[in-house]
Amino acid sequence: MRVTPVPEFMLEPAYDPNSDAGTGRDALGLGQVAQQGLDVRHGTILTLEDISVSFDGFKALNDLNLYIGVGELRCIIGPNGAGKTTLMDVITGKTRPNAGKAWFGETLDLTRMSEVAIAQAGIGRKFQKPTVFEALSVFENLELAQKTDKSVWASLRARLSGEQKDRIDEVLATIKLDVSRHRPAGLLSHGQKQFLEIGMLLMQDPQLLLLDEPVAGMTDAETEFTAELFKHLKGQHSLMVVEHDMGFVGSIADHVTVLHQGHVLAEGSLAEVQADERVIEVYLGR
Ligand SMILES: Nc1ncnc2c1ncn2[C@@H]1O[C@H](COP(=O)(O)OP(=O)(O)OP(=O)(O)O)[C@@H](O)[C@H]1O
Ligand SMILES: [Mg+2]
Repeated sequence: MRVTPVPEFMLEPAYDPNSDAGTGRDALGLGQVAQQGLDVRHGTILTLEDISVSFDGFKALNDLNLYIGVGELRCIIGPNGAGKTTLMDVITGKTRPNAGKAWFGETLDLTRMSEVAIAQAGIGRKFQKPTVFEALSVFENLELAQKTDKSVWASLRARLSGEQKDRIDEVLATIKLDVSRHRPAGLLSHGQKQFLEIGMLLMQDPQLLLLDEPVAGMTDAETEFTAELFKHLKGQHSLMVVEHDMGFVGSIADHVTVLHQGHVLAEGSLAEVQADERVIEVYLGR
């Protein structure tokens, strides 16, 4: 059962009548657990069901169903205007769906959470344009992005500071910017700024990362490194990657979802969806 910490929700009928996960009473307890760690006991980090979004009567998302597994790297492809960015807007709380359910783990109802609460719960999003602080060094950008619990910080300053520095070093190595740590971010290449922004997301330790066209404008070498990076991140994080670059998608994807007119048109391995007549028709071409 998908449950939520919001008490009034428990007055509604159980969401999944076939589930054996418990009763409404359990929901309160699960909600409390959710504040400390995401409940993903069924292996699904994101559940979207029957999601619709209308803009002045135009359905940007139309009865969309999507499930992302814990640690999965999912690619979302589809023609311009298919609803890929709108999908990310719904997950991050930027756009409220007109209908449907959106769950993060088993207990967090994304349709009832603010953008800030969703980010704090562990969903990180990277937009296409990098938004690093150009005047600050690479290291300082990562430092700023770091999650700090100020009450704990006061009492454990010395120890935390060492741990936090280690985490920054680790992220610097992951995004291959260790040698540029003291460089002002404004002097980095476009691709390096993108890596820094991914690093800034990683400092927050998100469980689900949403990346919208991450390799647009990158050189071939930068694109290759991004593929390596995402393959390294999956498992520890779940990733949802929207991309038009099929070479890139082919190099990273386990599982691909094709969106068309706000609806899931096909899902499977890249080879499977590439062989699907409907996908060829609307997106890949003949
Ligand atoms: N705020 C909005 N108001 C009105 N229409 C919108 C709004 N946001 C998106 N749309 C429309 O919804 C549809 C889906 O847009 P979306 O940006 O999600 O597509 P996309 O799949 O990300 O496309 P692309 O590959 O070009 O980035 C488009 O027709 C777009 O014009
Ligand atoms: Mg888009």
